[in-house]
Amino acid sequence: MKIVEVRHPLVQHKLGLMRRADNSTKTFRELAAEVAMLLTYEATADLPTEEVELPGWAGPVRARRIKGRKVTLVPILRAGLGMLPGVLELIPAAKVSVVGLQRDEATLAAHAYYEKLAGHMADRTALILDPMLATGGTLIATIDMLKAAGAARIKALCLVAAPEGLRAVERAHADVEIFTAAIDERLDERGYILPGLGDAGDRIFGTR
Ligand code: URA
Repeated sequence: MKIVEVRHPLVQHKLGLMRRADNSTKTFRELAAEVAMLLTYEATADLPTEEVELPGWAGPVRARRIKGRKVTLVPILRAGLGMLPGVLELIPAAKVSVVGLQRDEATLAAHAYYEKLAGHMADRTALILDPMLATGGTLIATIDMLKAAGAARIKALCLVAAPEGLRAVERAHADVEIFTAAIDERLDERGYILPGLGDAGDRIFGTR
């Protein structure tokens, strides 16, 4: 599986700021969007392009544009919504496919309570927005859902990933690419990433 830990200084700096426990909701939310934007830049580096002719200021000019049906963004409710504004800054015309998953406490399997996907999934690159890749259960279930809808090119953007989650995703879906700002140490006994960011949803939405 392709796993890219984005070491760009801006990403590392902004993620470092996010780790502070005393951030305001506004600051945390802004940083989440900014890091997501920078991860998007890395994750879209291999999108196919084609040459077109345009009316330029000095006459016809040849230029490149992204080819085909382009991208669908897949924020996983709730925390994935915190990455969406930053990603949309770079890909403002992207179709957004929202998914919500809940863990069945008896079977521990993640099942979808909400799924509204863009059309033509087979022709798109899907960029999943999942800030905290912890056990990987939610991400794996989302990838299952996207593949069932025909998606074949799937990438995930995560602010922070745990080694345990990366291994689980690799076992289930080795063809998926993961772009993350950090691969942290481990999960604690409650499934939080250490050192991590705490509950990303709560910090983005200012709840609890
Ligand atoms: N979800 C979070 O928001 N934080 C974690 O550390 C793990 C899962």
